[in-house]
Amino acid sequence: MSRPTATLAAVAAALWHGAALAAAAPQNWLDPQGPVAQSQKDVFMVTFWVDLLILIIVGGGIVYAVLKFRGKEGDDEPPVQVEGNMKLEVSLMVVSVFLLIIIEIPNIKSIFYSAAPPAEAEVLEIDVKGHRWWWEFTYPSGPLKTANEITIPVGVAVNFNLTTNDVIHSFWVPKLGGKMDLIPGRTNQVWLQADQPGTYYGQCAELCGASHANMRLRVHALPREEYDAWAAAQLAEAAPAARQSEGAGVFIQRGCNACHTVRGLPGAVGVIGPDLTHLASRTTIASALLDNTPENLAKWLRDPLTVKPENTMARDGPMYNGTAAPLSEAEISHLVAFLAGLE
Ligand code: CUA
Repeated sequence: MSRPTATLAAVAAALWHGAALAAAAPQNWLDPQGPVAQSQKDVFMVTFWVDLLILIIVGGGIVYAVLKFRGKEGDDEPPVQVEGNMKLEVSLMVVSVFLLIIIEIPNIKSIFYSAAPPAEAEVLEIDVKGHRWWWEFTYPSGPLKTANEITIPVGVAVNFNLTTNDVIHSFWVPKLGGKMDLIPGRTNQVWLQADQPGTYYGQCAELCGASHANMRLRVHALPREEYDAWAAAQLAEAAPAARQSEGAGVFIQRGCNACHTVRGLPGAVGVIGPDLTHLASRTTIASALLDNTPENLAKWLRDPLTVKPENTMARDGPMYNGTAAPLSEAEISHLVAFLAGLE
């Protein structure tokens, strides 16, 4: 194989491999699982086919001309110079406008469709606040708050009201649709809906600092009855056994309560970090970076800076920034038992 051919083959193989990986990826937006994502994919596909048609016609014309009119042995004279062809120019304009209209119709339809849930739809409102680097979700019913994982009912339009605590972030759950920016000083809105039960991965899509790529989230879509049961359980105060555990004492004594809420635990009303009342019911910790296991909880408590660079807990937590003694291994294991008990 010649060198250019080998390079071309390598590029093609890499692209093919990349496409295969993307198809299986949890954030593959070409695999829509809800009506908003579907409408956005439809716009893409129409644009893709129209563009492919243009590529074939224009590219084909160029290849044809290059081959047919290329210089031959004995061609000493410059080729005939042609300029101006009213008929051709007008028809090219008409064809271009026609193709743009084909692209624009589904585009405008999708813009209006994505703007607000259908009037007849049942709508669940969830407030989303972006933080460097985690997501805060507040449900309309009472004190229900979660972080980094949202649970929604299948087949229900969910309207997300997006604000930010600091810089611009962007809310994106590729299989369900999006994305939409969270901008300081205003509330943006985006609606999504999941047609099938399942877990959908998302992440921040706007560069927001050192841990931007670590600002992930998950959406759990549950059948209606399971969602209602989940919401009822989340409304309860933290598990009594956990509240009475030794780790709860460490939690207060070490000042974790200054930043975190654990409903039902006296003094634990901080709002700087995630609400931990039902932390154990979430599948991940640290903005969906780590699976929620005792080992990972310990890893996070031991050295949050390594897990999520520049995070607030490592910066402001007295036991991490050197203004207080680091957590001992005994304290870590008490805290892990406490956190794992917050079902
Ligand atoms: Cu938040 Cu990137």
